[in-house]
Amino acid sequence: MLGFLTVVLLLLAGPASAAVGPSIQRCPADFELVRRGQGISVSEARYIEQKREKVLPSAFKTYLHNVQRTGVTLPDYVEKILQSTNQLPTVGISTSGGGFRAAIFGAGVLNALDARNSSSVEKGTGGLLQAATHLAGLSGGSWLVTSLAQANFPTIQHLVFGDGRGGDFGGWIPEFDIWTVSTDPAVQATYVDELLQEIAVKAKHFPVSVGDGWGRALARHFSNGTSAANFLANTSHGAGILFSDLINLPTLASHELPFPIITADLLSKHINGTIFPGGNFVPLNTPMFEFNIFEMGCFDDVLAAHTPTKHLGTTNSSVCVTGFDEAMFLSGTSSNLWNELNITAEILAENTANFSILVNETYPQSPALRLDTSNFPNPFHGVAPQTFADAGETILVLCDGGEDGQVSPLQPMLVKDRKIDVILAIDAVRTDDADGFAGGASLIATQDRMQLFQSGLATFPSVPTTLAAFAAANLSSRPTFFGCTPDFVHARWGTPPAQGPLLVYIANGAPPRDGAPPLTNTSTFQSVYSAPEMQGMLMQTFVTATQGAVVGDALEDPEWGACLACAVVDRARAREGVSRSGVCTTCFARYCWEG
Ligand SMILES: *[C@@H]1O[C@H](CO)[C@@H](O)[C@H](O)[C@H]1NC(C)=O
Ligand SMILES: *[C@@H]1O[C@H](CO)[C@@H](O)[C@H](O)[C@H]1NC(C)=O
Ligand SMILES: *[C@@H]1O[C@H](CO)[C@@H](O)[C@H](O)[C@H]1NC(C)=O
Ligand SMILES: *[C@@H]1O[C@H](CO)[C@@H](O)[C@H](O)[C@H]1NC(C)=O
Ligand SMILES: *[C@@H]1O[C@H](CO)[C@@H](O)[C@H](O)[C@H]1NC(C)=O
Ligand SMILES: *[C@@H]1O[C@H](CO)[C@@H](O)[C@H](O)[C@H]1NC(C)=O
Ligand SMILES: *[C@@H]1O[C@H](CO)[C@@H](O)[C@H](O)[C@H]1NC(C)=O
Ligand SMILES: *[C@@H]1O[C@H](CO)[C@@H](O)[C@H](O)[C@H]1NC(C)=O
Ligand SMILES: *[C@@H]1O[C@H](CO)[C@@H](O)[C@H](O)[C@H]1NC(C)=O
Ligand SMILES: *[C@@H]1O[C@H](CO)[C@@H](O)[C@H](O)[C@H]1NC(C)=O
Repeated sequence: MLGFLTVVLLLLAGPASAAVGPSIQRCPADFELVRRGQGISVSEARYIEQKREKVLPSAFKTYLHNVQRTGVTLPDYVEKILQSTNQLPTVGISTSGGGFRAAIFGAGVLNALDARNSSSVEKGTGGLLQAATHLAGLSGGSWLVTSLAQANFPTIQHLVFGDGRGGDFGGWIPEFDIWTVSTDPAVQATYVDELLQEIAVKAKHFPVSVGDGWGRALARHFSNGTSAANFLANTSHGAGILFSDLINLPTLASHELPFPIITADLLSKHINGTIFPGGNFVPLNTPMFEFNIFEMGCFDDVLAAHTPTKHLGTTNSSVCVTGFDEAMFLSGTSSNLWNELNITAEILAENTANFSILVNETYPQSPALRLDTSNFPNPFHGVAPQTFADAGETILVLCDGGEDGQVSPLQPMLVKDRKIDVILAIDAVRTDDADGFAGGASLIATQDRMQLFQSGLATFPSVPTTLAAFAAANLSSRPTFFGCTPDFVHARWGTPPAQGPLLVYIANGAPPRDGAPPLTNTSTFQSVYSAPEMQGMLMQTFVTATQGAVVGDALEDPEWGACLACAVVDRARAREGVSRSGVCTTCFARYCWEG
């Protein structure tokens, strides 16, 4: 053991290199590689407790004040709950995948909920972001969540465009394509060389694949250290920003930021099951994984195990790895759908797939390893061997969190121990036969999956079973509430009377109501945007998130801010044994889908 450590430490002490990467040490004495169970970690529980104590009371007061400013009279119970200390609702926000489009749409909705934006305050929606406890992102949504967290929770305008004051975070810089930064072959070749060099330290001891280069490329857009001016310069570009270190940033240390979570799918060779229709790859009965700032793990009953994020890369309690959890490597895992594209000859001839070939030329990998996925030494080797399909694998092969069809990260919101009362589901998933607008597929996928994994997860509200039913009832073209009648939920699933969350669905579901040309239905693979194009998308998204439903002849619902507040408090209301009344009765009639 000591001999092994000496060798490793000598290897790591080799010639100085610009690249940073994981390092290997002896484990701390109290190190626990795997925590079993479907409960949350002690650290997460403490984060939420501190947030409830120090942040939520004033955040909800501000939010209530903003709703009241719209002039709509709220029932007493809404005001009472939002001003209380011990009845405050637990609000989770999930923001979907869909590439840059989804990152921008999600950003636009968060902006509409942000207390710091005066337009959002005027609409009576501003302030809910600060009052949310959890924020989950998947794929393009994970770019948003990770960049927002690592940049220390700036406003959305500053996040997307940079603050213009030369801060360390330079904005998303989407005028550069993620892989192809230049048409000049020499410039492009240098860029690819840099990506390869940046994973050199990791490649010495760990498997590397396209996922590593992808993470480094994404870091230039979504983590600190890059501006438009130094985009092509050979600088560190956020290397070494670790997901587990984000807790030290001021807005996380003060618990202002909702608890950030990103998700990924397992790509297992041992699982056969129903593939959700619509070009998905991962069977719905595959256990899924989440990364939060404290732990990475799986809450599904078949595994129910977690490992410290800080020590990802570690597989036993003697030799501990740190520095494996680079923030954009994890976000790149959540958005790694290159395995989906590795199916056609044309794709193989493109740069992106060639990158995996280049990785293997530079750092030869075992023939057993996939090059088109994100690969993790399996901390769950030998865990739950009867039920966890990959318990015998030394490598955990992960890919884009939406490859099972659940392109909205709703699963983390259904962890019972999180006790989420209301999920605000932001959905920018593309439905191809609806001009690229969202049609509800990801909700249907989660509903289908919940029939396979029920134990330990909260009840998911009933949603329609087909896209056609979503479209017929216009559920995507305006906000919709699901799970308004808990009895109905129970009847459908026959689950014990544990009440699941109410789901507020805000979709990128339709072109602007005023007939303006739609800007938000771009392709998932569009990876270059101009600043004016993004600004246009943010403006249209702001309208989507603040207009509510068409009411009579009016294109906007003047009561939408109040209606959203009615949804936010509704589970707390039920706990208090109060009946819905006043504008909330009207709102639930207007926004609920009851099947
Ligand atoms: C990233 O930059 C922002 C300023 O733009 C700063 O507040 C934040 O602390 C930085 N994050 C990290 C991880 O260094
Ligand atoms: C980038 O800089 C490092 C030293 O900081 C150097 O080793 C490396 O060769 C450079 N990469 C390219 C592509 O110039
Ligand atoms: C999955 O199904 C395919 C086709 O039926 C079969 O070839 C394969 O062996 C099965 N794999 C497993 C792990 O059961
Ligand atoms: C622990 O993991 C390290 C790195 O993977 C490995 O080299 C070592 O043999 C393992 N030790 C034990 C006791 O299993
Ligand atoms: C990708 O690799 C193939 C085969 O090695 C090669 O023919 C093709 O030109 C490469 N494409 C690019 C864009 O480098
Ligand atoms: C990677 O390269 C090694 C040899 O260097 C080869 O054996 C292996 O098959 C390659 N992997 C893939 C997936 O092509
Ligand atoms: C494509 O997938 C196959 C099997 O999954 C793998 O062997 C091959 O290396 C992949 N190709 C690339 C370029 O990653
Ligand atoms: C859906 O929207 C269309 C167009 O706005 C409208 O004509 C139709 O009545 C709506 N259907 C329902 C069920 O609300
Ligand atoms: C966006 O929607 C419009 C119709 O509303 C359609 O003409 C256009 O093709 C769509 N754009 C994309 C990229 O799908
Ligand atoms: C508030 O949001 C609107 C709509 O996207 C945007 O135009 C405006 O710049 C934002 N204001 C601030 C201060 O971020």
